[in-house]
Amino acid sequence: METIHLRIHKVCKDFGKVRVLNHVSLDVPQGSFTTFLGPSGCGKTTLLRTIAGFYTPDSGEIYLGNRLMNNVPSHLRNAIMVFQDYALFPHMTIEENITYGLRIRKIPKDQIKARLERTVAYLGIGNLLDRMPGQISGGQQQRVALARALIMEPEILLLDEPLSNLDAKLRINIRAELRQLQQRLKITTIYVTHDQAEALALSDRIAVMNEGKIVHYGTPQELYYHPADPFVASFIGKVNLIRGRIIENRMGNTWVDVQKIKVLVKNHFDHLQPQDEVMLCVRPETIRIAKASEEKEENAIPGVVTNYIFEGATIRYWVNALNQEWVVDVFDPVEVLPPDTKVFLRLKPERIHLMPARA
Ligand SMILES: Nc1ncnc2c1ncn2[C@@H]1O[C@H](COP(=O)(O)OP(=O)(O)OP(=O)(O)O)[C@@H](O)[C@H]1O
Ligand SMILES: [Mg+2]
Repeated sequence: METIHLRIHKVCKDFGKVRVLNHVSLDVPQGSFTTFLGPSGCGKTTLLRTIAGFYTPDSGEIYLGNRLMNNVPSHLRNAIMVFQDYALFPHMTIEENITYGLRIRKIPKDQIKARLERTVAYLGIGNLLDRMPGQISGGQQQRVALARALIMEPEILLLDEPLSNLDAKLRINIRAELRQLQQRLKITTIYVTHDQAEALALSDRIAVMNEGKIVHYGTPQELYYHPADPFVASFIGKVNLIRGRIIENRMGNTWVDVQKIKVLVKNHFDHLQPQDEVMLCVRPETIRIAKASEEKEENAIPGVVTNYIFEGATIRYWVNALNQEWVVDVFDPVEVLPPDTKVFLRLKPERIHLMPARA
């Protein structure tokens, strides 16, 4: 059984008249890597700062283990936050930066030294200790900021978009390192990003936020294949969304009318009744594309290729079908279907996800 390390229960936070956190509830398992993902302004940083103790919730509770944290000041929380801009002290050496928190806590010198050696070894920055922050690269600064947090041996590590100042290649390297480090130390980590690819690559759990609420909390696979609503579906990866109406729903076979085409969905949606309006969510790489001259089979939707881009391992097609544009990714393409080719899009019954349609 998973142990819950951090419990956020119905937390609300207002700034003036604006409700920035709206009844946020979330259980973070011990040792997990959990990501808050959402568009700019949705409340990610506010939630992280509330966990760190820089803000007090207006209502609701925050528990670390079994301990209610609402009125515990941030320096007694043992939840350490790494800020987006690293905030290194420019006039201190790297060593002084990393050991600062331990020195103000009056930890004995030999202990500081031992912890310093262990931490910088983990992060591969032992050769930078005498330098000043202005004399090291962005990626190195990022590691120093992380070292400064890890050396405190926090119960929870809170990272607010820590990679956003780095170039694309370095980001990918460092995020892989970060994940390995987190798994080695088994430290409960909360990571904030608005980059869905980063969230998918790093996380055990993702909490998708929108307008101060958590709209879906689950594993990357759950969010990708079974998103709670169209917002989550389109925020994570590329998706085709199309409206339909339930015809019949029995024993894991759901028949949906999509503009008079009968589409079979095999995914167990027990709550859906005939006549319910639904949104079909179909990922581009789950669609097969075939020339219209080939035999028509079930779940085949007629369309016309409008455009494509060749990306090496895949071709991405844009296809006009049922009065809307579809995106289809073909892996290991053998032939190219040029624009104006008549095609069928074959939808795999077990790869279609159904969501309640918004009016
Ligand atoms: N101290 C504050 N006083 C008033 N409003 C604030 C304050 N901090 C944040 N806000 C507002 O609260 C909302 C949420 O802000 P927050 O910084 O949590 O968003 P975010 O999800 O971290 O966004 P980003 O991805 O841009 O960093 C925004 O509308 C913001 O303008
Ligand atoms: Mg933010």
